Amino acid sequence: MNPIQQNLVDTVLARFGPKAVTTDAEAIAPWLSDWRGRYRGASPALLSPASRDEVSAIVALAHAAGVPLVPQGGNTSMVGGATPQADGSALILSLRRMNRIRSLSTGDNLAVAEAGVILADLHAAALDAGRRFPLTLGARGSATIGGLTSTNAGGTQVLRFGTMRSLVAGVEAVLPDGSVHDGLAALKKDNRGYDLNQLLIGSEGTLAIITAASLRLVPAITSRAVAWVGLASPQAALDLLRRIDSPAIESFEIVPGDSLALVLEHIPGTRDPLTGRHPWHVLIEAVASDAQAESPAALLERLLGAALEEGLAADAVVAANEAQAEAFWRIRDSLSEAERASGPAVQHDISVPVSDMPRFMTEGAAEAEGRFPGCRASAYGHLGDGNVHFHVRAPAGADRDAFYAELAPAITRLVHDMVVAAGGSISAEHGIGQMKRAELERLGPPSRIAALRAIKSALDPRGILNPGKLVRLAPEASAP
Ligand code: FAD
Ligand code: MLT
Ligand code: ZN
Repeated sequence: MNPIQQNLVDTVLARFGPKAVTTDAEAIAPWLSDWRGRYRGASPALLSPASRDEVSAIVALAHAAGVPLVPQGGNTSMVGGATPQADGSALILSLRRMNRIRSLSTGDNLAVAEAGVILADLHAAALDAGRRFPLTLGARGSATIGGLTSTNAGGTQVLRFGTMRSLVAGVEAVLPDGSVHDGLAALKKDNRGYDLNQLLIGSEGTLAIITAASLRLVPAITSRAVAWVGLASPQAALDLLRRIDSPAIESFEIVPGDSLALVLEHIPGTRDPLTGRHPWHVLIEAVASDAQAESPAALLERLLGAALEEGLAADAVVAANEAQAEAFWRIRDSLSEAERASGPAVQHDISVPVSDMPRFMTEGAAEAEGRFPGCRASAYGHLGDGNVHFHVRAPAGADRDAFYAELAPAITRLVHDMVVAAGGSISAEHGIGQMKRAELERLGPPSRIAALRAIKSALDPRGILNPGKLVRLAPEASAP
């Protein structure tokens, strides 16, 4: 630890006690790499404030001393966003101790949760009050409200409820000089110029430390049904989605046959919901929040029955009970884990216009496999949102380091060039982090990059918040 860092750490220790500071290398180690194990960083200390005021004091100290901070929640970032750089210049600022749900109002349908509240805990608290926070994802047992807000996370209910941007009604945050932005009041109308709350949502810890958020709740569901469908192609899947259009449908996730096979191979206790083999599948969830509504199971049976008759789907099963529904979801939520267990792969979280997605998935995979012989390309995820995870797995037996150093960058360029040609985005829901910063800069457009940099430089001129992520400071600014 350099003397400036040491001085900061000593001050935090003296003011906020031993729970606020970790310098034990073994205790810090799990927080120095990302979920996929692609990035390894270094940091001499992990700071864990317990309140907004402690965050504010720490950030003010760091600002004065010029010590960078890397905000961290559950460390489930898919783009190395929460992993510090390897030079050890930054301290980790963990929000995990700030895990209080400050209020939950069934009258206003709002919860105010601190940054370190884990998504699954918010789900449970909302349910206890007869409400629901309608955003979920595979990492819900670790991902935090601060991380989800900072990445504008999506997940598997975006089809109906949108991303965090639609669900966050207010933000409390500490700005890079230690001052506090209190935007928690969930005002329906507020036109005092630029919307700072929306600016901070999706800012990936580069503009502010989010300390709490006001979150919109909806009524708890009274019942749900989950179906697993086998079909011929991504186009058939999209046709099916359009055919079964109903406000009761909240999730529509596409799963290719090879991804299903990886789950069955690597995730204990999983089994194929259908007896025959299919090149593609979709998981569909329908819900009711009103006991008078048509039962979701009856709705899915009816809609899927018609789709089978029309030849839109090859086979389908509606889960017979909650345990089976959970088993179907477990397959979906384990896709990334199964791929991680299967060997090296390069990931692209991309979006294109929904109606163009089937073509993109089919032609894009053929192009990638043709250009990089032995690689396997396939895409899964949020088809109804025009967002899939387009992943390219290394040839069998490939050396991991060589794949990531040599082949992966070329594959990524190809995929991203195809995305840009299709008018899409190289980051649909995971953010830019460190993984995509160079690609964002390469693909611009320059006006967008210039605006991002101007905002970063204006709010964080010393570059102390999450350096090396999302966007570089404007060249004339002082820090990295
Ligand atoms: P971290 O990983 O700790 O941090 C993420 C980013 O936010 C970093 O840049 C960090 O610096 C910043 N940050 C964290 N907390 C704060 C704070 N309080 N203030 C300011 N900045 C902060 N994402 C989706 O969108 N959709 C999915 O379907 C999805 N599925 C996933 C499935 C799995 C199995 C995994 C491992 C991840 C998945 N993700 C998904 C990615 C990830 O869960 C989200 O990006 C999530 O929002 C990260 O939350 P976190 O608390 O782990 O944040
Ligand atoms: C998902 O939808 O499962 C994720 O966002 C994770 C991934 O990209 O693999
Ligand atoms: Zn996803």
